[in-house]
Amino acid sequence: MDPVKATVATFDKYAEQYQDKFMDYPAYTKTYARFASLLTEQHRTLLDVGCGPGNISRYLLAQHPHLKIHGVDLSPRMVELAAKNNPNHSFAVLDTRDIGQLEQTFDVIICGFCLPYLEPAEAKTCLETVYRLLNPNGLLYLSTMVGDPARSGYKENASGDGVITTYYEAKELLQMLSACGFTVCEHFSQNYPADGEEPVEDLFVFALRQ
Ligand SMILES: C[S@@+](CC[C@H](N)C(=O)[O-])C[C@H]1O[C@@H](n2cnc3c(N)ncnc32)[C@H](O)[C@@H]1O
Repeated sequence: MDPVKATVATFDKYAEQYQDKFMDYPAYTKTYARFASLLTEQHRTLLDVGCGPGNISRYLLAQHPHLKIHGVDLSPRMVELAAKNNPNHSFAVLDTRDIGQLEQTFDVIICGFCLPYLEPAEAKTCLETVYRLLNPNGLLYLSTMVGDPARSGYKENASGDGVITTYYEAKELLQMLSACGFTVCEHFSQNYPADGEEPVEDLFVFALRQ
């Protein structure tokens, strides 16, 4: 099967488990809290790319109830959960690689762990598109796994569930954002406790589209 289709099928199959683990995952929630503190009344519309079960949207809505959210994900089950977790907001099945089709622009864009499932060239196009979809003074929340790109690839577990994972060099990603026109406001990384496997480092970036 095509690795992207296989990856999305895996997320779709385990959508409830993902929701249960990551809806209130403390190490990530503190990054949402920090980002939420940068939002003002002027940030009214938000696009959540690779929204999963709508966990980040749900957190930000609790802090900023005036936000109007549109979320997209290629897994139908994730989209269903996101809609259930964020009633009165819109969620749709859409490939991250096709977000350029969206006609609306937004004050805030969230890319929470959506880049690991793209090829580096697709990630660059995605960030360029995100820049174009942001309104002036718009803010980006980006999280992704960083590390040796040689670790990247498609892996299946014993049950045959596969996921493609792309690791980026932090420096390269920050340069990519600058090349798109973003001003990086903050970035920090933290270790993700990988159960018995090689440790994983997560990078979080908050950036401004001037
Ligand atoms: C690790 S989850 C991230 C969910 C949430 N944004 C978060 O940060 O917790 C990755 C999500 O990306 C979705 N995904 C993977 N490849 C995709 C693609 N090509 N287009 C759209 N969604 C994709 C998966 O279905 C999954 O919901």
